[in-house]
Parts: sequence; structure tokens; C-alpha cells
Amino acid sequence: MDIESVDYSTKIPNNVNLVEDRQVLRALESWHPGYIDWWMDMGPEGFQQALVYLRTAVSVDPKGWAKFDYVKMPEYRWGILLAPKEEGRKIPFGHHFGEPAWQDVPGEYRAMLRRLVVIQGDTEPASVEQQRHLGKTAPSLYDLRNVFQVNVEEGRHLWAMVYILQKYFGRDGREEAGELLQRRSGSADKPRMLGAFNEATPDWLSFYMFTFFTDRDGKMQLESLAQSGFDPLSRTCRFMLTEEAHHMFVGETGVGRTIQRTCEAMRAAGIEDPHDIDRIRNLGVIDLPTIQKKLNLHYSLSLDLFGSEVSTNAANAFNASLKGRFQETKIDDDHRLEHATYPVLKLVNGEIKRVDEPALTAVNMRLRDDYTDDCQRGLDRWNKVIGKTGVNFKLELPHVGFHRQIGEFKDVKVSPAGVLLDDSAWSRAIGKWLPSKDDGEFIVSLMKPVSEPGQYADWISPPRLGIDNKPGDFEYVKIAA
Ligand SMILES: [Fe+2]
Ligand SMILES: [Fe+2]
Repeated sequence: MDIESVDYSTKIPNNVNLVEDRQVLRALESWHPGYIDWWMDMGPEGFQQALVYLRTAVSVDPKGWAKFDYVKMPEYRWGILLAPKEEGRKIPFGHHFGEPAWQDVPGEYRAMLRRLVVIQGDTEPASVEQQRHLGKTAPSLYDLRNVFQVNVEEGRHLWAMVYILQKYFGRDGREEAGELLQRRSGSADKPRMLGAFNEATPDWLSFYMFTFFTDRDGKMQLESLAQSGFDPLSRTCRFMLTEEAHHMFVGETGVGRTIQRTCEAMRAAGIEDPHDIDRIRNLGVIDLPTIQKKLNLHYSLSLDLFGSEVSTNAANAFNASLKGRFQETKIDDDHRLEHATYPVLKLVNGEIKRVDEPALTAVNMRLRDDYTDDCQRGLDRWNKVIGKTGVNFKLELPHVGFHRQIGEFKDVKVSPAGVLLDDSAWSRAIGKWLPSKDDGEFIVSLMKPVSEPGQYADWISPPRLGIDNKPGDFEYVKIAA
């Protein structure tokens, strides 16, 4: 079988030769009905019968891996797709640096590896659950199609992790695969594993912020798992990253189009001051200070996903050659980090200081720094959108100590500018920095669905290009199918 093209003859499309891997095929087939039940129960509400113009992977070749067609979401062909095997791949970091990559789970790291796979796997269905009500308020058919594309691909990412669990972890892998369908985002008794994945996504600006900031955390996690010495995990993450790129595109352009519309409406109404919030809101667009607050919230929640700045778990996973650094193979060092240090922001005697820590225990911090750089590049592009309209406003990432629940800053209050505050100063200012209930209600009040082809809600600009180069009035979703 051609390793790069996908076999659609089995119930579960795949490029891992499931036809000859009977045991795993059976395990996946018996997991499938539970997955469909979960999708019907927790997937996009009200649109399960709609025909959606979706891309489906037909190969894993980076040039031309997908085809587009109308499909009802429950009939989407969720499959198991791994990037092609690199012959002679060597482990690129950690204790086992330079050894041939493992094709099987190394016994001594079994528990650690399973945990990494389960944590990654748990985030995938969580975001589908968080986004399930958005269809009812989509600002256009184009946006509606995009959220559904993200949703079916997050569903496929769950399949990707479940394949690893079922093929390589025997009975406990099957149990974990079952558990992944049991937990629910935001549930009191069986929540998803990570904080940001239990938050609500009540409106479309939240969705774009989520796909920009939280899917970007996903990208960084996948990048570091793509370095793994355990080759099947590396290959599955490498292919997931091709899909993830679209999720971040949806987030970046979604926020960008919101900003664009706000600035244009301000100009048309002759409003110079971006802080003239009531007048701007009266135009039916989202003022930039509120967008800044949403950004502060989603960035800080996503930073928590990187874990503690200094972490022995992270050091162990690196040492074990299971989870590397961002673009590990491009880093010019010994890839073992036995003697290296890395600067970490810490609280020292009531002050925020940069302290050199052993690089090994600081791998989370390093990944988070790479994430911050990546976010900043996106903000620079948003600021260009603002700049071009002549509006005088600049979006900024808040300090990494701002509004944190995990790590070095969880017990202190830090302003977006990085100043330590006492509780009363914090409570006085918090309304300026994080979205209030009123802000949320205002945003929700704008969320009126638009379902005419080529039409867009008033608070957001149309995209510059269609999906798959389709014309502006293309019917991306046939709702009354
Ligand atoms: Fe994902
Ligand atoms: Fe994603």
C-alpha cells in the first residue's frame, strides 16, 4: 500500500494498514459507536443533518492532502492518518539522543507516555463540546462552515490519540479510550482534564480567541510531541499539525475581521477615540478595549496549559526522550541539557525576576516563551489591520504573570504591565483588564445568525478569500438539507 494515500475501503479510513492489523481494527470498530453517540450528543447542536462543505484528508502528502465536498457531519470519514515514516529516524533529544526511534512503547516509560497521550487526547473532544452551540449564532455560512471544519478535525484528533492508545497500550489503553468519551467540558463530576477546556465558549469572538490562543497551545504541544522518540506518536502529531494550521487561521482571521469592521465603523462615524466605548457599541461593533480584554483572558488561560515554569515532570518527559522542545532538531545544542540553564521568570522576595534554572526543568517555560513569540507575531498582524485604518490603538499581550491559576504567579496579583498589586488595587482595576458580565452580554447581543450566502453579520468583515477559492456567495452550508 502506498504509505501516503489513505485507504477508504475499511470502515475507518487509514494509512496504517488496518486491514492487516485485525485486532486494532476490531478495537477501533467497537469504539466507533460510542464515538458517534458522543458526537450526536455533544457535537454541533442543530446542524447534524446539514450539508457542510468540508475538507477530508485523502493523503498525508503536504502538497494536496485534502479534498472538499458536501458532507453531513455524522457521516464525516474520521480516520487514522500518520505522517510518512522517515526511514532511519533517530531520537533527537534526551537520554536516548541518537538512538533509533522506537516503534514500540519502551516498557520503562509506558505510564508516562500513556499519560501524555491521554492529556492530549482529552483536549480534542473538549473543544467540540465547548463550541457546540455556536452554530445557532454564526455570523455567516462561511464562518459556520469553519467552526464545523474545526470540530470534525478535533474529532479526528481524538481518533488519532485513541489509535495510539488501542494499538500500543492494550487493556488500559482501551479503558482510557472509553474514558475520553465519558468526560465532559465544564461538568462538575467528570470535567475535562485541563482548565481552559472547561471554560464556556459563549460567542464567536470567544471562539476566534480560543482558536487563536488555545489551539496555538495545542500546536506547541503537538510540535513538542512530534519530536518524540516514540515514532508512532511523532508521526501522528506531525499530521495533526497540518490540520491545526487551519484552526489558527480561523482564529487569527476571525479576530482580524472583527477588528477591521470595528475600525471601519469608527472611521465612518467619525469617532477618533477608541475608548469612546458607548458610541462605538452603538454602531453595533465590538470596541477595541473589549477585544483587548478578551485577549487578556484567553492568553492567560492558555498560558496555564503549559504547566509550571519549573517542572520535574517536564524534565522527566524530556529525559525519557518522549517530549522535546519546539523545533528540537533546529536547536544548536547537545539536546540533552545536562548542564545548560534557561532564564525563568520567578517571584523572588516579592519581586519578579529572571532566574537561571537548569534548562531541563525549564522546558515548559521554554515552550511557553516560544508560544508567546508566536502569539506576538499574530498580534503584530492585527495591529497592522488597525494601523491601516488610521485608528490609534495597539493590542498588547499582558505580562505572563497576569491572571494565572498555575505556576509561579498563581498566588499573586500582577497587572497586564507586570506590576505586582495588592488585593484591593487588583479588585479596583480588574474591570479594565478582564471582560465583565456586561461586556459578555454586549458581545452576545450582537450574535444574530446570518445564513444568506455571501452575507455577513454587521460586527465582522467578510473574509478576503473564500475557502477552496470559492466565490463570495458560495453556499458553504446547506442548512435545510
Ligand atoms: Fe486538535
Ligand atoms: Fe485545533
